Amino acid sequence: MSDHPIKRRISIQREGDFRKPRIVLAPSPNNVGEILITKNPKPITSGRTLSVTSKDLPCDVQAGCSTIAPGGYRKKVALKPGRSALDWSSLTMGDGVKGKLITGMEKHLANKDDDIYKINHQSTLVQVLKGVPLFMVKPPLRISEKMVAEHNTVDDCWCIIKGKVYCITNYFEYHPGGDKILKNFCSGVDATEQFYKYHAWVNANRVLRTCCIGELAK
Ligand code: HEM
Repeated sequence: MSDHPIKRRISIQREGDFRKPRIVLAPSPNNVGEILITKNPKPITSGRTLSVTSKDLPCDVQAGCSTIAPGGYRKKVALKPGRSALDWSSLTMGDGVKGKLITGMEKHLANKDDDIYKINHQSTLVQVLKGVPLFMVKPPLRISEKMVAEHNTVDDCWCIIKGKVYCITNYFEYHPGGDKILKNFCSGVDATEQFYKYHAWVNANRVLRTCCIGELAK
């Protein structure tokens, strides 16, 4: 064990900076914490070092942030109780693995002239009609951009991220960035660019594994 208390270095990133924020913990020779705060709009290259005690720290400065409000503080979106990442994980392990987190598929299956029957192999369709959860169907269901665009409401919302089609109807309230941004940029469209802009480090397929409907048909 070191004799010295912990010194904290926090890099604060601004909107549009793609790098994942980091915290470096290092031993401090003084009896106070040291925090490196950068509020520079340019990519972080330098900062000023302050000696502070914990009560001097602005309470809403946190690690892992990518969206910073004017003034350099993190703008957090408040999620409803029961809508944490762990709650989402439980939901996916329950309803998700049973294929119950996907909305709006019935209307495609009910219409024999729908794209779904034109662009998919018979063996894929058989599994879908038998009720196999869509994320488990092999080869995956192929979905056209036109089909995705038909699902653009809060009650039935599909989107494309990195060539895969996801149903995010049930995810809105769990999204750490809030539901509004998803409704505005992620309803019935390809949201890959926005997704990368805000959090290139997030693994969409991990978070939305059981909400995956299939692959975008090019
Ligand atoms: C639909 C797929 C998406 C998934 C699975 C997803 C997932 C996540 C996750 C896990 C976080 C927390 C990241 C972290 O704390 O490191 C997050 C935050 C966020 N997301 Fe998304 N996201 C999605 C789409 C989007 C899109 C399309 C946008 C923008 C148009 C967006 C904007 C944001 C913002 C602004 C935050 C807050 C970042 C912060 O707190 O600093 N997300 N998202």
